[in-house]
Amino acid sequence: MTKKKRVAILISGRGSNMASLIEAARAPDYPAEIVLVASNRPEAAGLDRARAAGIPAVAIDHKAYATRMAFEAKLHTTLLDAGIDLICSAGFMRMLTGGFVDRWRNRQLNIHPSLLPSFPGLDTHARALSEGVKIHGCTVHFVRLEMDTGPIIAQAAVPVVAGETADSLAARVLEAEHVLYPHALRLVASGAVAVENDEIVTKAADLAAAQQRPPRPLVWPPVRIEARI
Ligand code: GAR
Repeated sequence: MTKKKRVAILISGRGSNMASLIEAARAPDYPAEIVLVASNRPEAAGLDRARAAGIPAVAIDHKAYATRMAFEAKLHTTLLDAGIDLICSAGFMRMLTGGFVDRWRNRQLNIHPSLLPSFPGLDTHARALSEGVKIHGCTVHFVRLEMDTGPIIAQAAVPVVAGETADSLAARVLEAEHVLYPHALRLVASGAVAVENDEIVTKAADLAAAQQRPPRPLVWPPVRIEARI
């Protein structure tokens, strides 16, 4: 196997997506290794979770820096010092400036709890419910300057069920996130997908073949097939 990509995960909170990436990367054939976790919030529960899993975890408290640029300069040198190839933002709730985003262009992934481009920003589950969508989900994409935009690597659809609340929907989307992010990182780290001319291109033959066979549409609520008279 070619050399594993060295990955840093950026978090701000509990780090459940971080944990799913760390777990997936334990597989010997996984094309990436998680070598660093960094949080802009020193109190983030994910930092201890990372350390318990044996991953070096650092807090770079954005409040300790006079400007966004100064914070990002420290983050950038920390990533360079660790020899990072790819960044995975996983609940990293700090907007990044163009300088940082450009330096890591096509090397920074993010997960977002909606089917982008619908519902960028916060409170995605409550907003999806109030709009009455039947299918919600999550997205992994490359990071661009505008929040929750950038070439889409992978998405998972989560149907909205009767009696749904924002919390129940969030819980099922989070389960999907934990499957989707390791899958998306595998695609990028293995070179199966890449960005060319700001669009996702498929490199792996098996993935390209899968895309030739359109999947059956997911219809929700399910369609009852009535017997023909
Ligand atoms: C996740 O649901 C992630 O998709 C979301 O924050 C949560 C972090 O949870 N990210 C965003 O909303 C980014 N726009 P986690 O810390 O347990 O992974």
